[in-house]
Amino acid sequence: MKQFQTALDGYSLVTSQSISDHTRSTVGDLATDQIKEGEAELALILSLTQQAFDANAPVPGLMKALTERLQILKSKSTPLTWAHLASLAQAHPVASFLLQDPLTRWSFEKPRGYSGDAQLLDFIYEHPAVAAQVKEASPLGTEVYNFTKQSPSAVAVRERRALLAAHVDTVAADTENAEILAIAAGHLREAERSEALKGDRLKRWVALDQDPISVGTVSSNFHGSCIEAVNGSVRTILGRAQKLGTFDFIYAAGLYDYLAESVAVKLTERCLQMLKPGGKFLLANFAQDIGVEGYMETFMNWPLIWRTDKEVWSIIDKVQHPIAEKSVTRGENGGVIYAMLTV
Ligand SMILES: C[S@@+](CC[C@H](N)C(=O)[O-])C[C@H]1O[C@@H](n2cnc3c(N)ncnc32)[C@H](O)[C@@H]1O
Repeated sequence: MKQFQTALDGYSLVTSQSISDHTRSTVGDLATDQIKEGEAELALILSLTQQAFDANAPVPGLMKALTERLQILKSKSTPLTWAHLASLAQAHPVASFLLQDPLTRWSFEKPRGYSGDAQLLDFIYEHPAVAAQVKEASPLGTEVYNFTKQSPSAVAVRERRALLAAHVDTVAADTENAEILAIAAGHLREAERSEALKGDRLKRWVALDQDPISVGTVSSNFHGSCIEAVNGSVRTILGRAQKLGTFDFIYAAGLYDYLAESVAVKLTERCLQMLKPGGKFLLANFAQDIGVEGYMETFMNWPLIWRTDKEVWSIIDKVQHPIAEKSVTRGENGGVIYAMLTV
């Protein structure tokens, strides 16, 4: 499958421009029969959804049907056809109903210029920071949000936040003065759930992100704590542009889903090099086939590199660094794959 490949320089941002460039560049190669069939099926799905909205049908039922139908259509389309169909769906009038959902709208409009920013995650976390925007949504938008925030991907993201906080607490319990590094930290919401942070049991918790707005938010939210907000990127890490030091625990959540395998391997190697002896590195990646990729890639315009367990193992197997222990697991929800590597 042709994915949104990221450059080896480490840039992983999926922007509206990169998405439309990708779609435009692929449509020329499409086989006519295949595309006509897909277009017809999509038109039917969207028209049924629009009729249901117009008739004030119960939102959970119509959203479930839309999500399932898009998923089936994606699963039987080639990547090129699907990219074309996704752009057609986005331009369909039914989008005006779906974009009343603050989560779908933020994802689609990309106010920060790229996909999957920390504020988008705040809508998924139902964080107080976005409560005012959620409150402003229309009654229909609120109903759609009540559905999208319970989707398997959203449940998996909330579970991921809980697991990250639990890992940090475990490291703090096992290691005095533990040093932690979060790569692509966003708003570091997991820190709000860490008992170790509350109990002042960490030496430092470095939160690195490429988005200066998110770095500023972390810096002011955790002012006076051991948390250090750092503006940096995959590229600055790979280029050793910053002296970050060494760590007992490094993790990256919400980042590998944007990284081509070659970059993922290099970043993993670099993270292992930054660990102290016995230190641990955790990477999280959305799992393939969680049932909502069709909706996310159309109305949310949020494409990701959904991986299988085998594809996560493939990253680990290519890493050129000694690893004492390795495991690949899933959370209870199954929507996120976790690789834990101990040096
Ligand atoms: C989906 S959010 C995840 C935030 C946080 N880890 C969480 O789980 O809530 C993805 C984050 O990755 C950051 N990001 C994307 N590409 C990056 C890169 N190349 N280097 C550093 N950060 C990056 C974005 O700025 C964004 O804050």
